[in-house]
This record gives sequence, C-alpha cells and structure tokens, in this order.
Amino acid sequence: MIVPARHLHGHGLPPSDHTTMLADVREGLQRTPKRLSSKYFYDAEGSALFEAICAQPEYYLTGAELAIMREHAADVAAVLGPSVLLIEYGSGSGLKTQLLLAQLATPAAYVPIEISPAALQESIARLGGTFPHVEMLPLCADFTQRITPPRSAMQPLRRVIYFPGSTLGNFEAHEALALLSKMRDEMGEQGAALIGIDLKKDSAIIEAAYNDAAGVTAAFTLNMLARFNRELGADFDLAQFNHRARYNGMAGRIETHIVSRRAQTVKIADRSFNFAADEAMLVEYSCKYSLDDFARLAARAGLRVKNIWMDAKQQFSLQYLERAEALDG
Ligand code: TRP
Repeated sequence: MIVPARHLHGHGLPPSDHTTMLADVREGLQRTPKRLSSKYFYDAEGSALFEAICAQPEYYLTGAELAIMREHAADVAAVLGPSVLLIEYGSGSGLKTQLLLAQLATPAAYVPIEISPAALQESIARLGGTFPHVEMLPLCADFTQRITPPRSAMQPLRRVIYFPGSTLGNFEAHEALALLSKMRDEMGEQGAALIGIDLKKDSAIIEAAYNDAAGVTAAFTLNMLARFNRELGADFDLAQFNHRARYNGMAGRIETHIVSRRAQTVKIADRSFNFAADEAMLVEYSCKYSLDDFARLAARAGLRVKNIWMDAKQQFSLQYLERAEALDG
C-alpha cells in the first residue's frame, strides 16, 4: 500500500507567526494529555543548544553518522553514481554533506531544503565556498510538504534525496510512512534516497543520549518554555518544570516529556492553564529501528533498502533505498 503524502501533518511547518504559535500552544495545552509541537524547539537559542547536544559524549548519533561518512563516503558516492541532483531535507551543519559532495562524481546540483532562511543561507555560503563548481539551488520550504525539485543547469542522471540525522525517527510510524512515500514520488523513476537511521540497542545507551550529564538536552527542551515566555509573554517558571526522556521498549522510541514539578498555573496571553503535580507534556518521539523494522517500513512505502553502512559499534546506519519494482503492502 502506498500512503499518500497528504496524510503528513504536524512537523516543521513554516516559521509560524505568533498568532499561529499561540493558537498551537493553546490547542496543545487543552488536550489530555497535553502536548507541545517539537517544531518550536528551533529558535536561535534552541538551534545553538541542539548543536551543543551533538557535541555531548553521550549523544552517540552525530559521531557515529560522521564516522560512517568518513569511512564510507567514497563507497556511498560510487553507489549514487555520477551527475546526481542531491536534494537534502534540512540543511544541517553541512559536515556530513561536505564529505559526501567531496566524493560525488560531477554532481549536477545541490538542493538543500530548509525552513529557516538563515540556516539555508549559512549552509549555502559554506558549501558554495568549498564546492565552487557545484550549482547551489537552495529551497526555503517545509520538507514535509510536496516539493518540486528545481532545474539545474547540468542535466542530472538521477535525483537522490539525502535525509541524515535520524530526523525520520522524530515522526510517528504513520507519518514516517507518508514521508517515505512522498520521497518516493519526488525522487522519480531513477531516483534514490539516502537516510540516516538510528538503531535499536541497549536502552541505557539510548536513554543516556537524551539525558546527557551536562544537562544540555534538558536545557534544550526547557528552552521551548523560555521561548513561549519571550515570544508569547507566557509566564512559565522554568525551575518548576523538568525534562524527562525515557525509552519505551514496546514502541521502540525515546519519549521526551516536559514534566510539571508541582501543581501550578501558567498564564499565556489572556488564558490560564493548570498543571497537576507530575503532569507530563509530550514534546518529541525519537524512534529507533532494527534493520528489519526499517526494511519493512520502507517496503510499505514502495521502497527497497539496497545498501546499509554502519559505524564500527553498529549503533547507527546510513541506508540507501531505491523504488521497489513491485509494491508490497
Ligand atoms: N533528531 C534528533 C533525535 O531524535 C533530535 C533530538 C536530539 C531531540 N535530542 C533531542 C529531540 C532531545 C527532542 C529532545 O535524536
């Protein structure tokens, strides 16, 4: 079965104006259980904190994915082939992409898709300087929405959608399925996808990655409340909330919550919201896959996993997918 991309919702909508943000936050806080959208993590402060998370010793994901690229970029590039139009979902910090672009044979163009204009500009400035012969075609857009790949000056042989960082794991199964289906549509007949997937492992290792000893992840999640204070004039007392990230083994995912330390009332604009002691608001899932889990998910989206690269400890994987000839479902 192919799931239509229109079933996607929720993540990474265009940088919301305050009216939308206020409406979203209110709607989320009226629910039982309460929830806040992870798209509000990434203001300037949150983006800087996320960069800091990636440098924490417990956060193995970044190091492992980088190690895979350092070790295997030439092999990956050989599988992708020449004259690729490389489309990246998100523009990232650029280092993994640099290692890949450096190995690609005559890439037709690089197309980062990024919702934040500042991040987009920064990545293009950096990569454009390093690869003056690669056409840069930045697209300021939400990658969960339908994308029309831009035309490059050089005729590409195929489109490859690069989606690193285990970001696919931040989508629930039905959303991840819809996103993979959308990627399948966008890559075209000869296309492919290259996706960073974090793997199931000892839950203590996973939990430590989302509960670093320096408290950077806690600061990152609580920054969302600070942002609502700054931008919506809310009065969250950050000392009265905790970050909580636990691995749910049944669901195979980290579940990140912000937990109220006591019964309290928070004002946002002209409305009040009550929190019970220990009441938890869901902010993010980070799904972990076995190789089989992911192959099955890909198959349901009409894709087939053709190559898998892993780090030495087999904690993380970079997976290469093409369209499956016959669709199963
Ligand atoms: N894609 C990252 C992940 O799932 C995002 C992330 C890292 C994150 N640390 C977090 C999201 C803490 C919420 C809370 O690993």
